[in-house]
Amino acid sequence: MRLNHYLFALLFLTLAACKQKPAFSGYSIQKSIVADSAIVSTAHPLASEVGLQVLKDGGNAIDAAVAVQLALAVVYPVAGNIGGGGFLVYRSGDGQDVAALDFREKAPAKAHRDMYLDAEGNVIEGKSIEGHLAAGVPGSVEGCWQMYQKYSQLKDWKRLVQPAIDLAEKGFRITESEANGLNEYKRGFIKNNTKACVFVKKDTSEIWKTGELLVQTELAETLKRIRDQGRDGFYRGKTADLVAAEMQRGGGWITAQDMTDYHAVWRKPMLGKYRGYDLISMPPPSSGGIALFQLLGMVEHHSFAKSGFHSPAHIHLFTEAERRVYADRAKHLGDADFYSVPVASLVDSQYIQQRFANFDPNKATPSSGIEGGEFTGKESKQTTHYSIVDAEGNAVAITTTLNAGYGALTVVGGAGFLLNNEMDDFSAKPGVPNLYGAIGGDANAIVPGKRPLSSMTPTIVTKDGKLFMVVGTPGGTTIITSVFQVITNVIDFDMDMTAATHAKRFHSQWLPDELYLEKGATNEATRKKLQSMGHKVVEWSGIGQVESILVRKDGKLEGAADIRAKDDAVMGY
Ligand code: GLY
Repeated sequence: MRLNHYLFALLFLTLAACKQKPAFSGYSIQKSIVADSAIVSTAHPLASEVGLQVLKDGGNAIDAAVAVQLALAVVYPVAGNIGGGGFLVYRSGDGQDVAALDFREKAPAKAHRDMYLDAEGNVIEGKSIEGHLAAGVPGSVEGCWQMYQKYSQLKDWKRLVQPAIDLAEKGFRITESEANGLNEYKRGFIKNNTKACVFVKKDTSEIWKTGELLVQTELAETLKRIRDQGRDGFYRGKTADLVAAEMQRGGGWITAQDMTDYHAVWRKPMLGKYRGYDLISMPPPSSGGIALFQLLGMVEHHSFAKSGFHSPAHIHLFTEAERRVYADRAKHLGDADFYSVPVASLVDSQYIQQRFANFDPNKATPSSGIEGGEFTGKESKQTTHYSIVDAEGNAVAITTTLNAGYGALTVVGGAGFLLNNEMDDFSAKPGVPNLYGAIGGDANAIVPGKRPLSSMTPTIVTKDGKLFMVVGTPGGTTIITSVFQVITNVIDFDMDMTAATHAKRFHSQWLPDELYLEKGATNEATRKKLQSMGHKVVEWSGIGQVESILVRKDGKLEGAADIRAKDDAVMGY
């Protein structure tokens, strides 16, 4: 071959190679948007895009939510899921219909109160966190099916499932965060899977790189069964059998019968008030609605905004309210289908005032003087929230989770989806903390068929009968305090949705008796003042990952995606 022919061939091959494999330059990600008609805010740009397209094709917010939930199960495996569960809070555009759907996981029939204890009655470390025994019976597909049956406008289930199938079958480019997550959890995936797992490379020494294509063929086949058979494509037949077979291989307890028996429940949403605004949030088995309303009730009679955003007085007041509310959470809250949760008493305004009557504006109350024992807390962010408003003003707030990052780290062999480790949200033993440092007792003890207590707080706020805000976040026990702060940032500190969502946050939860301040949340003088009042201040990295939507005074929608996570993306039109 002559030299110029050789060079030409080389150039051609290089160009062809470039054409085949364009370098991945990342997704286009917006953290804030103002739109006329509709907004979708989720943890991943591909999921937001899927939801937005459903809305543009004539779907309503529920149609978009179904498509987003399934797409997130593919593109955001750290928390998006079909093997987990969650909660929907819904309000129709005309305000005539408000609803709450509980598609939380359930303890399998074989589960029992002491299933995570050894012969001496001590909690066996990790048993409720990794592997087959950590999983509850998944609820997300039933959740999608129920909300579709009740509210879909498109009435085309297959259309809503198909985008997730395409993403799983053709693959998608993983972001830097996803590559890092998959690499970080490699050891856990290897340990907790009975069959080759799509999240670990064949050559296990190889790592995931940003922009690599992740193809999930088995997940695509499961999604096709869901597309073709609806909820039965998951809870009966091949998928249920694959779950049961996986459990047998790995020593787990979920049976095909547990799958068939799973049902989601439409519950009466929690309705509350704060400074002339109306709130709709999640009842038990989430602690979110009750705790949020208690917090708002305790601070409502204090004019904390006057003292300034993140002033010592503001942070002290909120921390003191949180101390009392999380003590109530540990004592009284669990699945109300199994335990008599005193819901009305807990949110009664007289009770709330009396509970806060010993608040001292100058001094921290030691948590030990309020209730309970000590423990070490850990925070995990790995749940996900999405907020959607459609052109009719229908609003959807959904928080959904596998619990910890990538759940139990166990993929159902042949079905390609990750199982949750939601059993850890039960109280394995009274007074012993779970993954989030939360403790509990009888109210949240394990019982077959019961749902573990959650902190998820999908919330919708209205004003004068009109939609005002849609908000929610992941973050374990920090969910409640993050939602609390975003709402008060807007109502009390007059922030717009973006500022309220992106503002630094702080968190406390009774025990451990510590006040967590996000890096940069306060200046040194404020920190010192809080310490002098008796708070044990600890610096934390990102608290929460909020996706939110506000209806502005001019009628336009403002959507925000949290800046704490790189991939969260808001879109609208
Ligand atoms: N798994 C976290 C929660 O439900 O609060």
